[in-house]
Amino acid sequence: MSTSVSGPTTAARRFERVCEILERYAHDASKLIPVLQAVQNEYRYLPEEVLTLVATDLDVPPAHVFGVASFYAHFALTPKGKYVIRLCDGTACHVRNSVPILDALRKRLGLSAERATTPDMLFTVETVACLGACGLAPVMVINEQVHGQVTPEKAIALVDAITAKEMPHDCREPDGPGLHGDR
Ligand code: FES
Repeated sequence: MSTSVSGPTTAARRFERVCEILERYAHDASKLIPVLQAVQNEYRYLPEEVLTLVATDLDVPPAHVFGVASFYAHFALTPKGKYVIRLCDGTACHVRNSVPILDALRKRLGLSAERATTPDMLFTVETVACLGACGLAPVMVINEQVHGQVTPEKAIALVDAITAKEMPHDCREPDGPGLHGDR
């Protein structure tokens, strides 16, 4: 009888990461918020089953963990795209036309107020209150990268550049031998 040696299953790997995080914070319940922060950094959101594991490990009621996760707007309980676009709609950005940027992004990505993440999980588009860079208004952040004085055209160009970068390799100019331009 042969057995697979392909390593841990996806589910096991999923929990392996959170176990490492809990270990890093010494399974200390007083570190719940940093633990959740690290979990979100790892998974890009807070999966329900991972929160349950965190509650069990830290020996705190699951309702408390879910309560903390829901209280802070920073924490996400639903999956987000690989690239999270946060468009500022604070006062300075709003008066400098942040809304047309949002409209352009949503149109380009097929998103809406109700649907913030693309089906391929590449992009999430959100609006946020003041990002603290009003002098650069309108401001947009893609993951950790800040873009100032954004226009709808500039926002679309940024998204298109990411989309091109993320395109499957067999659709791009190859690294090795193979497809070469116009034939
Ligand atoms: S209002 Fe947009 S950065 Fe302050």
